[in-house]
Amino acid sequence: MPIKAIAFDAYGTIFDVHSIATLADTFFAGRGPELSALWRVKQIDYTRLRTLSERYEPFSKVTRDALTFSARSMGLAMDEEQAEALMSEYDRLAVFADSAEALIRLKALRIPLAILSNGDPPMLHAIVTNGRLDGVFDHLLSADAVGRFKTAPEAYELGPRAFCCAVDEILFVSSNCWDACGAAWYGYRSFWINRAGAPLEELGIEPAGTGRTMHDVMAFVAAD
Ligand code: LAC
Repeated sequence: MPIKAIAFDAYGTIFDVHSIATLADTFFAGRGPELSALWRVKQIDYTRLRTLSERYEPFSKVTRDALTFSARSMGLAMDEEQAEALMSEYDRLAVFADSAEALIRLKALRIPLAILSNGDPPMLHAIVTNGRLDGVFDHLLSADAVGRFKTAPEAYELGPRAFCCAVDEILFVSSNCWDACGAAWYGYRSFWINRAGAPLEELGIEPAGTGRTMHDVMAFVAAD
């Protein structure tokens, strides 16, 4: 069955969440990469806790809370100004070069494209604009619309609803293996960009495709 549309995860897939480590390192010398890594882990952790217990808060709040916790647990004396500066960096995360190139090529193929992310709408609009990706996506789909984060089915349902096609006609692309697996559970054809050379999650399901960069997504779509 041909791929009719593609939905992308945002953070870690198109945008490099760890580009934040550079600024973090200027505040906490030598601790930037560790803070960036822990911050991401806690951020995802909080999305799951809030969804499981039906205590939704927007991703910006979850992200800010995860930063506060991470700094505290690392014993860093982070002041309000530093926290705000790190949060603003979240709206200016670097775009992976391979992602920018592949998105432009996919757009040229006239395949409808979307972001389907836990990020709330203001975050997604800011990051897309700052990343000079305005006009690339037909839809910016946010879990905020359903008040539940991925991997809740309600969040993945936003894709077929927006594209008006069957879920198995949509390719879902994520560099987060848990997200690629969650999308596959929901019924997408999913593609895992395994940037870090990580092992496959033990969830009893595999993405339809795996590669190392967004260029491998191009090859997967071309072979379809
Ligand atoms: C997102 C996170 C999970 O963009 O990477 O939804």
